[in-house]
Amino acid sequence: MTQDELKGLVGQAAAALVEPGSIIGVGTGSTVNRFIDALAAMPVRIAGAVSSSEQSSERLRQAGIAVIDTNAVERLTLYVDGADEIDHAGCMIKGGGAALTREKIVADLADRFVCIADESKLVERLGKFPLPIEVIGMATEQIMRRLRRLGGEPVVRPGVTTDNGHPIIDVRGLRIDDPAALEAEINQWPGVVCVGIFARHRAQTCLLGTSVGVRTLDF
Ligand code: A5P
Repeated sequence: MTQDELKGLVGQAAAALVEPGSIIGVGTGSTVNRFIDALAAMPVRIAGAVSSSEQSSERLRQAGIAVIDTNAVERLTLYVDGADEIDHAGCMIKGGGAALTREKIVADLADRFVCIADESKLVERLGKFPLPIEVIGMATEQIMRRLRRLGGEPVVRPGVTTDNGHPIIDVRGLRIDDPAALEAEINQWPGVVCVGIFARHRAQTCLLGTSVGVRTLDF
């Protein structure tokens, strides 16, 4: 099966978890796009979606699904999103698509985070994928100095500004033994908007696309 077919498979599996008539949180990325396609094909529609990016909002609207303001909802029962890496505890690296801050905001509203991914994303330890960090522009150099002191090799992602108007730093070479501790450490540096470690907001379930079908991992 191709990677694209695996993404389609997990997109459909996630759509099967959605309660008709509910409002759900929707993440960002190529796997989530397949989830939106599956939502659009459902005979009974959802009431609407809280979206984590302009890109997903556009796709939801094209699918005829109402996009609801984050501030208009108090809680969501379900948030569905992809990941760049996920470990065996449900901790993730996210932000390859530059939507990490809004993704974490929507995940924070949700009772349950369901990650959809193909099997290449499952890792023993996070950190091979460069860690994305959204920052306030004037703090970029100081944050990169701090990252180098931790053993990382940071670069500013060229030509990218997030939906919130900020740059992204990608960091290679960090040793992420304790995702929650590193998330908490980087989060409190002045100028960090959001770090792409999702440990506090880790997934409760991962629907993993494999060559033999969808594997459900519960954490
Ligand atoms: C977006 O910023 C990311 O967090 C995505 O969730 C992640 O990059 C997964 O994207 P794909 O489904 O395209 O691999």
